[in-house]
Amino acid sequence: MSGLAFLLVIALLVIAFRLYQKGSMVRLGVSLSMLFMVSEALLGAGLVLFELVAENASLARAFSMSFHLVNTFLLLASLSLTAWWASGGRPVQTKGKGLMLGLLALGMIGMLILGMSGAVTALGDTLFPARSLAEGVQQDLSPTAHFLIRLRFLHPTIAILVGLYLILVARWLYLRRGDHVTALLAKILIILIILQLSFGLVNVFLLAPIWMQILHLLLSDLLWIILVLLAANALSQRMLVGSLMRSPQKTPISSSSETTT
Ligand code: HEM
Repeated sequence: MSGLAFLLVIALLVIAFRLYQKGSMVRLGVSLSMLFMVSEALLGAGLVLFELVAENASLARAFSMSFHLVNTFLLLASLSLTAWWASGGRPVQTKGKGLMLGLLALGMIGMLILGMSGAVTALGDTLFPARSLAEGVQQDLSPTAHFLIRLRFLHPTIAILVGLYLILVARWLYLRRGDHVTALLAKILIILIILQLSFGLVNVFLLAPIWMQILHLLLSDLLWIILVLLAANALSQRMLVGSLMRSPQKTPISSSSETTT
């Protein structure tokens, strides 16, 4: 399956370089996709080579699983941005948007840390499955428990903090920006965060069955893609005069009516 993904990214690279000119954002996106596809394959091969598989419960495995997830997120971001720019998305412009850039960058770093903590939790759940919720909580609280078990509480804590932060940033963007796409993406992001926080809770109560793990990971990927696209779109828009005071529903402003500050 990953071999097929690798071939598809190579095909994308060839097509993008034939269709788009030097310096185009699509070329940048597809080049980054190729880079992260290669590092994804190397990370996967490294896991097998250094036997960081099966029952291995070392710190090295926890780190490699976390970095693997970060690499997957970066690959997803590159592919999503390639598609975004190929569909007419404007290049990111950071000039005069220091606050927005800072808030979004912090949210994305938070999301990467949240994903890394999730990967460690998933490893702990796979290697040390609990038979009941009570047993799981008992394991978590035991000072003699394996570090993968004792770290399990971290993920929900980070999820609530990062989730709330992203909801506030998305709401701020929703109220501040005048364009429909930013408003829509911000709304979708908030819905996905609330859904994912609930899924996480259900995951714990159901003792993380495989189908729930897949659903939780799928939603994480979707959430990450929407966050990346929200950042790309919000940072590509020109600033709107007086947009702070208005709600986007009341003042739908098309890109043609935008004015720069
Ligand atoms: C926005 C919120 C959240 C995000 C983005 C998120 C993301 C993730 C990710 C990326 C993984 C690793 C999946 C894998 O590698 O297979 C994971 C695992 C896990 N998460 Fe979350 N999570 C969130 C909220 C929560 C919450 C609130 C809880 C619990 C109350 C929770 C419980 C778990 C559990 C038990 C696992 C391990 C089992 C599995 O892989 O599904 N998550 N999470």
